[in-house]
Amino acid sequence: MNFPITRMRRYRKNSKIRDIVRETKLNKEDLIYPIFVKEDLKDGEKESISTMPGEYRYSLNDSVDYAKELESKGLKSIIVFGIPSEDKKDEIGSPAFASTGIVQKTVRKLKTETNLVIITDVCLCQYTSHGHCGIIRENDDSEFGFEILNDESLEYLAKVALSHAEAGADIVAPSDMMDGRIQAIRKLLDEKGYIDTMVMSYSVKFASSFYAPFREAACSTPSAGNRKSYQMDPANVLEAIREAELDVIEGSDFLMVKPALPYLDIIKTIREEFDLPLVSYNVSGEYSMIMSAIENGYLTEDSIIEALLSIKRAGADLIITNFAPYALDYL
Ligand code: PBG
Ligand code: ZN
Repeated sequence: MNFPITRMRRYRKNSKIRDIVRETKLNKEDLIYPIFVKEDLKDGEKESISTMPGEYRYSLNDSVDYAKELESKGLKSIIVFGIPSEDKKDEIGSPAFASTGIVQKTVRKLKTETNLVIITDVCLCQYTSHGHCGIIRENDDSEFGFEILNDESLEYLAKVALSHAEAGADIVAPSDMMDGRIQAIRKLLDEKGYIDTMVMSYSVKFASSFYAPFREAACSTPSAGNRKSYQMDPANVLEAIREAELDVIEGSDFLMVKPALPYLDIIKTIREEFDLPLVSYNVSGEYSMIMSAIENGYLTEDSIIEALLSIKRAGADLIITNFAPYALDYL
């Protein structure tokens, strides 16, 4: 009798066999590209982002042109991040909910010129003078001499979401991590007749060091303190389940885990516990870590696909990633 009887290598014999037994597949539809649109830029003036090799800030028109290019390669969805003029920033993040804001204008143009699913990041941090995701108030008893007010912030976040819906966003994605924001946003959207605008909560968002390149890109580093009083402690998984549970109760249409690669266990847990479409955000630090290694010749572009595949294998349906342009070329 031959030994061994079961030979696993039969499954790997050649690419035709490997193709038919592959368990996890990455598709173009799975990718959501985050695009940075900067109010102050003139057309043709795309600005390279020093912390994110190969990524740029675009003017309004250039961002739409780039979106069209990616759409022609098979991209289905995009998430828009705005970078307002420095001098417009204020305590309450007014440029975030102005109908003439950079995101609102970009969404209107994307809506008329593309067929992409348009998602918007709903937050205040790029728009407040202090760089926090909510409204702050002086408080000598708290860690940094001020506190981030929860309930007061909800009203503003809902206004931001409504202004995006009015501009034509298909999905609004709140990333602030205030308690009750999904309900506050859903309620206002419904009251104003936007019953079909979807909400994609950044449900499980950790206070991660991997956001550093993004904050440089979006000019949203807090001027004092940190985000640990609202974003989650990286050590917690039971708390992640509770965050997701609350978002389901409050009416989110999607769940999200962010970051992705250092949190694959969390993606798997949320996948097992809930049946909503699950998004994971392959954040800026994960992008820059791999891209800089590729630029230095330590890794090859194969690592990009392998990393994205791991996020799908863990259980994510959709991946927000700056690697989308590379993955579209590969797939
Ligand atoms: C803003 C926001 C952040 C990211 C998405 N929305 C940064 C933060 O919370 O500090 C991070 C995205 C990335 O790192 O790619 N609320
Ligand atoms: Zn924020």
